[in-house]
Amino acid sequence: MPIQNHAFPWGIYIGDLIDNNDNMPLCLDSKQGGFCVLFDDESEVTANTFIENVALKLFEVLPMGDMLVDIFDFSHKKRFMHLSSLQSQKLYNIAFNQNNATTKFNKIEEIALERHHNTLSFETPTISEYNQKSKFKEQYHLLLINLDSFPDETTSKKRIKNFFDSAYEAGFYTIAFGSQDILESEVNATQVILNQFVHLSIKNNTFKFTKELIEFADIIKKYDFEYVNDNKDKIIQSLLAQLEKEENNSGEKDFLSIPIGTSKNGREIINFTMGDKSTNLHAFITGVTGSGKTTLLNNIITGIAQKYSSQEIQLYLMDYKDGVEFQVFKNHPNCKKIFLDNEDLSASISLLEEFRDTMKTRAKFFKEQGVSNITAYNKLNTQKPMPRIILIIDEVHKLFVGDYNYVDKFSSILKPLMRQGRSYGVHIILSTQSLAGTQIDRELMGQITLRISYKLTDPSDSESIFTYGNIEALNLEKYELIYNNNAGNKKDNVLCRVNSPVDINSVLEDVLFMREEALILKPVIVQSEEDREEDVINIKEEKLEVHYESKYSTSLEDENLKKLEAMGIKV
Ligand SMILES: Nc1ncnc2c1ncn2[C@@H]1O[C@H](COP(=O)(O)OP(=O)(O)OP(=O)(O)O)[C@@H](O)[C@H]1O
Ligand SMILES: [Mg+2]
Repeated sequence: MPIQNHAFPWGIYIGDLIDNNDNMPLCLDSKQGGFCVLFDDESEVTANTFIENVALKLFEVLPMGDMLVDIFDFSHKKRFMHLSSLQSQKLYNIAFNQNNATTKFNKIEEIALERHHNTLSFETPTISEYNQKSKFKEQYHLLLINLDSFPDETTSKKRIKNFFDSAYEAGFYTIAFGSQDILESEVNATQVILNQFVHLSIKNNTFKFTKELIEFADIIKKYDFEYVNDNKDKIIQSLLAQLEKEENNSGEKDFLSIPIGTSKNGREIINFTMGDKSTNLHAFITGVTGSGKTTLLNNIITGIAQKYSSQEIQLYLMDYKDGVEFQVFKNHPNCKKIFLDNEDLSASISLLEEFRDTMKTRAKFFKEQGVSNITAYNKLNTQKPMPRIILIIDEVHKLFVGDYNYVDKFSSILKPLMRQGRSYGVHIILSTQSLAGTQIDRELMGQITLRISYKLTDPSDSESIFTYGNIEALNLEKYELIYNNNAGNKKDNVLCRVNSPVDINSVLEDVLFMREEALILKPVIVQSEEDREEDVINIKEEKLEVHYESKYSTSLEDENLKKLEAMGIKV
């Protein structure tokens, strides 16, 4: 049975000593703060399996959510396949290049400093003791460090040493690893870590125990040793099931919940949520240029691929930033359509109309089955549920400036979509630098309860996205945002430090590899003829299967042209 007292285990279980018929568990004293695994060429796979299992065992004994893994590893091949499935829950975060590693080190160092200065005290000198006594719980961090992949150039030896000297008390446990040759390395960070922690060598797939590592090493040499090597699939499945159960226990459900960052002190994870529980149906994101809006959208879109199948959530993406940003999602398994044409507003109208028309089809299905909304429909059709569909528009101001006829048209399509979104499972996320100069409708804003803003410089911008007097967005720092799920009401501002960008391609690759073929959508890409020609060449090279659709491909074309002409718009 897992211990539910939030203490960090005193011993790190590494395997069993075999004595005739008896198995005796062997643990390392966790107060040592960590250890280094050094392997020869033959033993790398054993070392990886061993480390992954030690980590999974720690997840098993701690209450879910109490620990996360921070991994520094620049190798091209994924080392810990099973652990990485905790990535969608943000319980596994990888730094896979020098930049990431520097950012990650800065972040964990800051958390450690914060904990030393503000959280730990004479009565609770370690996070483990704090977590047993305090109402709030601090997350443990398991650091898995490839000794070849730690920030070095920009981080001084002294800083790294200071961090590791006090990391255990602050809730960090380290397992560093590398081949034997790394002992010769002159890299500062590697030296510091090798000096800091005891070594466990694996040679010819055999574990070598020293007195430094385990006090009674001489005695255990007499026994056979079996390193911890449980069924990783089973452990992961049970961990994921536990997480799902926790999410579902809360009665009303959100159909979408993606971790986007943490509270300022790093204590709580902040999720981007939509659904009945949070009562968010649509969202609006603002922030000055370069503040991180597209990155946030990308993290959410990628998170959707990881966490939800196309039977649960389907996406329509529209991108007005030179039509390039959302290209990366051309093999996203939940994407129905990606619109990359930033010039042709009448084509945008077609797409919005098509999106709106899904409501009509849905209405027909509801009528046939005598239900009034998607929740009721899905209860009756558990085998073939209706997915939620989300339209995401980056740089939406392009649709809200300029020609009044267009602006009016967009508003008139978006308004009913938003009003009836709850019943039909149709949701919209809009993003733009500022609302200044746009003719965005008050009624439209009224439908959007989830409002998010990165830094703004003009108080009136902050008041347009939130409410009058709510200008806290002016004080935000880099990569911080205000998450407000009460229509901008100042008392509901939540400050969030946003997660760094995810590696979209590698995440999507993993997801596609694991996903059942029938659940993989092939998005239709709508773009201008020129871009399209260029892209076809690239795509041929990448051997990707992408379906194209001309922006005027269907009979909608004629219909729309007529409508526009009737509105007095020359086409
Ligand atoms: N949370 C974050 N952590 C680290 N880097 C980030 C984070 N968010 C964004 N960045 C980086 O900041 C830069 C700008 O981000 P992004 O393009 O998302 O901004 P934007 O608000 O969409 O800008 P624009 O309005 O010009 O489109 C990018 O290089 C991105 O990688
Ligand atoms: Mg952007």
